[in-house]
Amino acid sequence: MMDGFKLHRAYLDRAAQAAMVKDIRECLTSAPLFQPVMPRTGKSFSVRMSNAGPFGWVSDKAGGYRYQARHPVTDTPWPPIPDSILSVWRALADYDAEPEACLINWYAPDAKMGLHRDTDEDDRDAPVLSISLGDSAVFRIGPPEKGAKTASVKLESGDVCLLTGPARESRHGIDRVLGGSSTLLNAPGRINVTLRRVSVP
Ligand code: SIN
Ligand code: FE2
Repeated sequence: MMDGFKLHRAYLDRAAQAAMVKDIRECLTSAPLFQPVMPRTGKSFSVRMSNAGPFGWVSDKAGGYRYQARHPVTDTPWPPIPDSILSVWRALADYDAEPEACLINWYAPDAKMGLHRDTDEDDRDAPVLSISLGDSAVFRIGPPEKGAKTASVKLESGDVCLLTGPARESRHGIDRVLGGSSTLLNAPGRINVTLRRVSVP
């Protein structure tokens, strides 16, 4: 596995996972899931998204990938990052500043996320912290260069992973969701919460 990829298996127990899902659903009532679209091609992501925190990650055909302070559909500020999520960053990120973006990814059982790098942040020294909830998924990660050899790892509900050091620059994505592998959510599917620092502190 890549240098700087840190996996905390079953970091959240079932009760903590359920509490976090409740907090996420509350965020989604004020900041509903939206359908991001790729720059240029205009192709929809199969993953639906929302955000919490001062900045949210959005993408559309005209503006491309970016962070912005307001929801692209409702045009209201994102809700604050729930304490249940912030506390995971404070415990594991080993970084002095707070996260500014909490991306909420909703994967239906047939959704996937193509290999990509996280490069839209001004602060690339901070780790990227990612929490998996609900159905398991096959995560793939490799060096930044296209065509380089990759490795895959199954991420399960309650797992927390960090991209630090060389892995912060990795190409990574989700090959597939293993629909029905978890009973946490009321329906098949997966939630991924990604915390990032956007500005240089
Ligand atoms: C991402 O890299 O943007 C998402 C990874 C995941 O869903 O686990
Ligand atoms: Fe990513």
